[in-house]
Amino acid sequence: MMRTRCDHTAAWAALNATYETSGISFDVRQDFAANGRRFEALSQQAPHVFADLSKNLIDAATEALLLNLARQCGVEAHRDAMFAGAAINSTENRAVMHWLLRKPAVAPVPEAQAAIKNVTISLTHELTQVHTTLDAILAYAQAVRADDAITDVVNIGIGGSDLGPQMAVLALDEFVTPTKRFHFVSNVDGHELAATLKRLKPQNTLFLIASKTFTTIETMTNAASAKAWFESSGGTNIARHFCALTTNVAAANAFGITTTFGFWDWVGGRYSVWSAIGLPLAIAIGAEGFREFLAGAHEMDEHFRTTPLERNLPVRLALLDVWYRNFHGFTSRSIAPYHSALSRWPAYLQQLEMESNGKRVDLQGQPLPFATAPVLWGEPGTNGQHAYFQMLHQGTDVVPVEFVAVKKPQHALAGHHDLLLANVLAQAQALMVGKADSGGHRNFPGNRPSTFLLLDELTPTSLGALIALHEHRVFVSGSVWGINSFDQWGVELGKVLAKDVEARLHGGDLAGLDGSTAGLLGRLRAK
Ligand code: F6P
Repeated sequence: MMRTRCDHTAAWAALNATYETSGISFDVRQDFAANGRRFEALSQQAPHVFADLSKNLIDAATEALLLNLARQCGVEAHRDAMFAGAAINSTENRAVMHWLLRKPAVAPVPEAQAAIKNVTISLTHELTQVHTTLDAILAYAQAVRADDAITDVVNIGIGGSDLGPQMAVLALDEFVTPTKRFHFVSNVDGHELAATLKRLKPQNTLFLIASKTFTTIETMTNAASAKAWFESSGGTNIARHFCALTTNVAAANAFGITTTFGFWDWVGGRYSVWSAIGLPLAIAIGAEGFREFLAGAHEMDEHFRTTPLERNLPVRLALLDVWYRNFHGFTSRSIAPYHSALSRWPAYLQQLEMESNGKRVDLQGQPLPFATAPVLWGEPGTNGQHAYFQMLHQGTDVVPVEFVAVKKPQHALAGHHDLLLANVLAQAQALMVGKADSGGHRNFPGNRPSTFLLLDELTPTSLGALIALHEHRVFVSGSVWGINSFDQWGVELGKVLAKDVEARLHGGDLAGLDGSTAGLLGRLRAK
């Protein structure tokens, strides 16, 4: 598919001109004063997520130009190609079909047959495989839930094989069975695994070894240590106490694990919580809850796939991201979930967006002259307010903030939730309205942008929709930039060098190393 690079489109030139003439000095307060319908125009309900974009540095005319940009970059055709199973992950010659994992078994799939690795795959066939596997995973999850002897479930995995299930198990704490404890071990730092094992008994523990490739050194090291601990502490029956979640079932078998659930190379690691990688969540919230989680995501898929761009929330959010990154030059976005259960939401989004769109070349490998993914960072509110919000209100950099709030709490403690909601509203308000004060120290410039995402309740369904919203948002910005959002070559060099450095740590060979690495290795090896 031939696509026009975003900075070669007419819309990009028009956006540049708009930025220079009015965008640079746009004041959202003045636009609210002049336009009584600003909130209605710049907010919308999508499945399970209400979004208020009206506090952003944008107006209808700029949004129309951004929508032109998306059209001129071929975003719609690119989206349709993803949903048709085309191999849009071109550097790995893979389809991108995490959306198929949440498609109901009865839903029609395009008849199109996608050619990947010179093999023709049928989406109908893949959907059948998805549901056969899902049924097996959920039956296993139910059996584990009913098994009183298993009190502790330990997920060993890293990156997408950790962040998705961990974030979701924490987020849905109110729905999690109280009869089991869930642990997530990701770091190769033995402190993490050792601290977890200290509290476990082999006969009561189920280890889930989660790795798409089953080669990731951190996971393999932790899995081997967990297995050694299990056997040396009197554990028997690996088939009952170890389960592998992987596309590489052969490697899991070779490792000695026979209980396995597979998935497919068309599921990216950071998009895999919907697959076997979601097993900890399925055990935690049960089969019905997991199906609701998938259903919420599917609703968002349909919204993204079928809604005109003007009312398509992932598209609108992504275009705002492009506007801020490429025209305003903002380098980061702060994620502020006002729900303590969403504590890993910022970390989850970091992988989703920065591993997907942290790219500097186009689909042909040519360097790009414009910026791509911003830095994402954040903490749950209200904690962030008492740490770094000072900088957001009065610092020299403008950092767009993304608030996430939930209307109905799942606790009965009087007073807390109103206070929480008052705070999230007040922070967004303060960033925008500011406060004039002749004394410089107490002056708040205001006009600082934020987006407000609102869920009625934090449930499996709404969490599924919220995650899918962000997956598609990342797709759209990556599509505008013309990059491959689905590979991650940038993580490879460090992995290769770590092997070499590990050998040198043992052997002491410093030959050919740069001065700094040699100096540090020398210090680490000194008696
Ligand atoms: O090194 C990066 C990465 O490949 C991520 O993309 C992935 O989610 C993570 O490592 C874990 O990979 P795996 O599931 O294959 O162990």
